[in-house]
Amino acid sequence: MLSGKTILLGITGGIASYKICELIRMYKRANADVQVVCTPNALNFVTKLTLQTLSKNNVAVEEFDIKNYNPEHISFADKADIMVIAPATANTISKIATGVADNLLTSIACAFTKPVIIAPAMNCNMWENPIIQENLRKLSYTILEPESGYLACGYLGKGRLCKIDKIFDKTVELLNYKPLTGKKIVITSGGTIEDIDPVRYISNYSSGKMGVALADVAKNLGADVTLITTKDVSKKYNIVKVKSALDMKSAVEKEFCNADCVIMAAAVADYRVKETAPQKMKKTDDDEINLTLVKNPDILKEISAKKEKQIVVGFCAESENLIEHAKEKIAKKGCDYLIANDISRKDIGFSSDYNEVTILDKNGGMKKLERADKMTIAYKIFEEIYGKE
Ligand code: PMT
Repeated sequence: MLSGKTILLGITGGIASYKICELIRMYKRANADVQVVCTPNALNFVTKLTLQTLSKNNVAVEEFDIKNYNPEHISFADKADIMVIAPATANTISKIATGVADNLLTSIACAFTKPVIIAPAMNCNMWENPIIQENLRKLSYTILEPESGYLACGYLGKGRLCKIDKIFDKTVELLNYKPLTGKKIVITSGGTIEDIDPVRYISNYSSGKMGVALADVAKNLGADVTLITTKDVSKKYNIVKVKSALDMKSAVEKEFCNADCVIMAAAVADYRVKETAPQKMKKTDDDEINLTLVKNPDILKEISAKKEKQIVVGFCAESENLIEHAKEKIAKKGCDYLIANDISRKDIGFSSDYNEVTILDKNGGMKKLERADKMTIAYKIFEEIYGKE
């Protein structure tokens, strides 16, 4: 997603520096070239070796450690597409705002003419200090404000580095990588809920995380996203909350004709209770009760049968013989792609933040994606679908 982009990542001396290791990994997973520049104080919190190993580049700290004829600060500023300073201390913010260039990082910032993201992190009283606020106002940068909560110094207040995902998403947004612009992508997620009576239901262990990861990524890539979900989700795209398989079917049908791509990541119940009891069912003296279940419509199969321009993608959750069942399922359902995942494993699939999948296509092609967080898996799924268009 960030192939061919160079990110100049400035790290300053705050405790939140350790969180930046994860940001480097996210940039690298998205194929960016990451050049880390630290203030000397940053290295009190995180080691050069860690940053070098993760970024796969030398870490620059000293301004006058010149290896060739190019002044380092100018060559770094020229090469990078974006500069991200995280965490940004009150000290570095104030220096940059007033044009002080007394180390490599502040010198680069002074010479940098492309977009800059700054993610401050500091004690809440420092954050509220009017001088710091005034200095921030002087910067024509994208400022990702700190969050409130318990701070490393023991205070409760605003000053905690914002979420790493937010810095990553903003970087992608500013680099304007939007290959799905103009596409309407509909994604389903979560387990459907089939009522037995007003207090009991049949459902499954789907958390909705895979669907949300797909929706977040589609949004990052510029798509117009609709997430049809059984879970409460608050995001900056269109959310349609549903409960049962029948609700989900209506919602999918409503969105289908205008969609370019529908991805069914939801775990839809194959059966529902024939007659939902209008009142709470009473316990009886019998040791057994019988519930009659009737088949739910197969939403994926139905939309696959009527697709025109749409790309239809299903998921396949199996606890045994994954690939064998997935091959049967893609033929039976008639979708363009089927993403097979093993839901018997605890470290992937249901409720996990991770997944490991095999993508099957209608022409018999197969591609395995090794275990990774669900966002990474989602990026790779879109790469597979739209890389081939
Ligand atoms: O939500 P998470 O906790 O993040 O977990 C993710 C997941 C494991 C739920 C997800 O990755 C996944 O596998 N989703 C599909 C679950 C499922 O219902 O699989 P299935 O093999 O039973 O169904 C195959 C496909 O048909 C699915 O795309 C399903 O949405 C669709 N289906 C199923 C039944 C039905 N009546 N209508 C359907 O459209």
